[in-house]
Amino acid sequence: MRYERLVQWAKQEWTARYDDAPFITIWASSECSNKIAQKQIKSGRKLRGKARYVGLEELDTDVVVPISDYGSRGRKMVLTATAGAFVFTFADEKDENDTFDVIYASSYIDDDVQELTAVALVPEGRLETWASFEAICARAVRPRIRRRRDVYIIGGTDAFFDPTVDWDDVILDPNLKSTIMDDIEAFFNEGVDIYRKLKLTPFRKLLMAGVPGTGKTMLCAALARHALNERRIVVYVSGSDRDGATFEKMQRAFQAVASAHLPTLLIVEEIDAYLRGDDKARILNVLDGIESPNNSKGTLMISTTNYPEAIDDRIFKRPGRLDRIFVVPTIEKENLAEEMLRHYMADQWMDNHAKITPKLIKQPGAFVREVALHARMIAAHEHQTEVTLAMLQKSVDSLLRQMRLDGDFLLQRRPLGLGANGSRRRSGFDFEDDF
Ligand SMILES: Nc1ncnc2c1ncn2[C@@H]1O[C@H](COP(=O)(O)OP(=O)(O)OP(=O)(O)O)[C@@H](O)[C@H]1O
Ligand SMILES: [Mg+2]
Repeated sequence: MRYERLVQWAKQEWTARYDDAPFITIWASSECSNKIAQKQIKSGRKLRGKARYVGLEELDTDVVVPISDYGSRGRKMVLTATAGAFVFTFADEKDENDTFDVIYASSYIDDDVQELTAVALVPEGRLETWASFEAICARAVRPRIRRRRDVYIIGGTDAFFDPTVDWDDVILDPNLKSTIMDDIEAFFNEGVDIYRKLKLTPFRKLLMAGVPGTGKTMLCAALARHALNERRIVVYVSGSDRDGATFEKMQRAFQAVASAHLPTLLIVEEIDAYLRGDDKARILNVLDGIESPNNSKGTLMISTTNYPEAIDDRIFKRPGRLDRIFVVPTIEKENLAEEMLRHYMADQWMDNHAKITPKLIKQPGAFVREVALHARMIAAHEHQTEVTLAMLQKSVDSLLRQMRLDGDFLLQRRPLGLGANGSRRRSGFDFEDDF
């Protein structure tokens, strides 16, 4: 099917309806036949060129066989992109009887390419109105992004990300914290202009790498809160939902970023998940700037990973793909361990608790939080008003034992789980069964 046939049919339709009224023939936007747009745009909608939208009529024709695509929007299945022929009717802003039509057809021109081609015949002098109608259709079709407290959350559920964490509650080496903050502020305050003067897209990319539980997500949440206070937009991409980490999700994030018109903080959690399979090349394009979001006000991307080894030399060793890598470490010094423990013991803190800090070295923050919570629960359970050092010690020991046990257990179980009997379930399931 070639576009000429579409145009020929449209011309015949035009002549039959409007005789020799002058028209122009244009490539039209395929979004006008998308069912989402057609449903959403209501009669009476104001358009440019002093006109309003009236409605549409589907036309029966041999040249286009109607067929729709479908997909999920929120929880519902809906029809989306559609091949078909239509008359769209518009009226004068003030006089509803003064109308004009546009004849429109969209079709798959090539069987091998799943892309709609659309043509339209528009009355002379009405292009402005039609163009604004196309723009509204395109906007209606664009994936919707949930916006919550000024954070666009893409993927995941609301529970994944809460931008209410205070910067002071993130306990890390103060040098690391201030380096990260300075980097971000320097980009938004001075960097964006410098990028622009060099005719570069103002897009800066930071990576936070560290073992689980060191506070990367928490750090991102605190940076998000800071960004919101600075009147920046925050876009958060979670890899951990039903859809997994797909490039499509990244594209939705970029659409949100590109239409932000404000300085934007883009948070991509677990970026390593996107670096597998076919999506990898596309992510590299993003990091190189080829597919990166073009937001003239500046975009700063903060990505996180537990698996820096998944991010290979193509990214690490090539300058410009990731501008800076920060290691978010486990607790390295006793003073930080004490600060963290004090924080999570809160009003239950006693000075002799500091004696257990050596046991907290090389552990992530999440460990300290667990130790403190567990000890406080032991105390409450035993109807004690104070958390004693012994309770804290017990808590540390049991948590360490549990972690060691898990490690040994998995090591012992794994060969069994993958053993001679190929039909055995994954060792992860065995683990749960046996507990
Ligand atoms: N540096 C820290 N300061 C204060 N609390 C922390 C810190 N690190 C971890 N925690 C506590 O542990 C919890 C888990 O940390 P978080 O989810 O931020 O770790 P993560 O590095 O994102 O882990 P993962 O790599 O598994 O995603 C936090 O919500 C917080 O309560
Ligand atoms: Mg995390």
